[in-house]
Amino acid sequence: MSKIRLAVVCTFGLEAIVKRELIQMGYTDLTVDNGWIFFDAEIEDIIKTNISLRSAERVLLVMGEFNAVTFTELHDKTYDLPWDEWIEKDGSFTVKGKSVKSKLHSVPDCQSIVKKAIVNKLKSKFDVEWFTEKGAEFTVQVSIHKDNVILTIDTTGSREGLFKRGYRKSAVDAPLKETMASALVQLSFWNKDRILYDPMCGSGTIAIEAALIGTNTPPGLFRQFASEEWQAIPAIAWDDIRFYYESQIDHEANLKIFASDINKDAIDSAKKNAIRAGMEEHISFETMDIKDIVLPGDYGVMITNPPYGDRIGDEETVMAVSEYLGKIFGGNKTWSNYIITPFEKFETYYGSKASRKRKLFNGNVKVNYYQYFGEKKQ
Ligand SMILES: C[S@@+](CC[C@H](N)C(=O)[O-])C[C@H]1O[C@@H](n2cnc3c(N)ncnc32)[C@H](O)[C@@H]1O
Repeated sequence: MSKIRLAVVCTFGLEAIVKRELIQMGYTDLTVDNGWIFFDAEIEDIIKTNISLRSAERVLLVMGEFNAVTFTELHDKTYDLPWDEWIEKDGSFTVKGKSVKSKLHSVPDCQSIVKKAIVNKLKSKFDVEWFTEKGAEFTVQVSIHKDNVILTIDTTGSREGLFKRGYRKSAVDAPLKETMASALVQLSFWNKDRILYDPMCGSGTIAIEAALIGTNTPPGLFRQFASEEWQAIPAIAWDDIRFYYESQIDHEANLKIFASDINKDAIDSAKKNAIRAGMEEHISFETMDIKDIVLPGDYGVMITNPPYGDRIGDEETVMAVSEYLGKIFGGNKTWSNYIITPFEKFETYYGSKASRKRKLFNGNVKVNYYQYFGEKKQ
């Protein structure tokens, strides 16, 4: 298969995790740049990365990268790229754009120049004056930074980033994105032989993502991607790769994942989500106030996303749950505990300083991921 270049996009702060996932998948020569990870690949890697990546937001096909400071340059260099090898005669294509610190700063102008150049290229190939644009989706993005232009086509799909696994139809207030939940699990010391506990599980995202990891289930196995409709990627390749990944799922995994929440409706949604993800047999759900939790053993890993004062629950709830987390989970020195929260005084209420703190963004909210490392098993 022919060589292509891919760019995987992720939330700021998660580059190292996504890079690790790509390395585990066997990719090398990865270039990381502010939420983008570039690498050379083959066409079938569009399928593999979309289906398998757990913490990335989308996978982009890099069409070209060049310098441009005039619209003529932008048009001509765009025209020179092999759009006709990807976009079909009836392909529906939109151009999105962004420009930072560049001479070509008018984004709408850049978008229409790029669209015009692509249309001109396609006209020369298909010999038509008018495109119906009723077919497969090709979302082109023009990203300009300091006069450097990168042109990509979104292989994942413009409407549904990779965080949309398809299992979460029921959500409580303030659910974590699936990609972030998976990153939190991957940033922890949890592995499939250890207990995992989310005591404020809401719609169950952390527990479900852990179960997907523990059973070796690729998160995108049962959803669709824009590039599935592209003629340039043989449909049989999607079938073959899906078939292979399905054969690798560990249905016999004996996971010890616990998830509870004070809100019964949240637990009902979480259970439904777990069923949709095919993970219900791997998670024990329970409606329970954090203060009543009894730890199910030693050497467990707690990962949770407590209520945020400004969204659900008032400041008193945030303080109280932080104290309980410290007393119940922090009280057992064999447990490793991980808490994502914007609450600045978290460590004070939890009762000790974190072993490590990582700054992350949960949507637009600046948060810290507090990590407390427990004793190692002898
Ligand atoms: C930010 S939400 C968690 C969202 C979850 N990570 C998800 O992806 O859906 C915080 C959760 O804490 C729960 N909660 C608040 N106070 C609690 C308490 N005292 N005991 C247990 N759960 C509590 C809320 O019901 C809410 O579902």
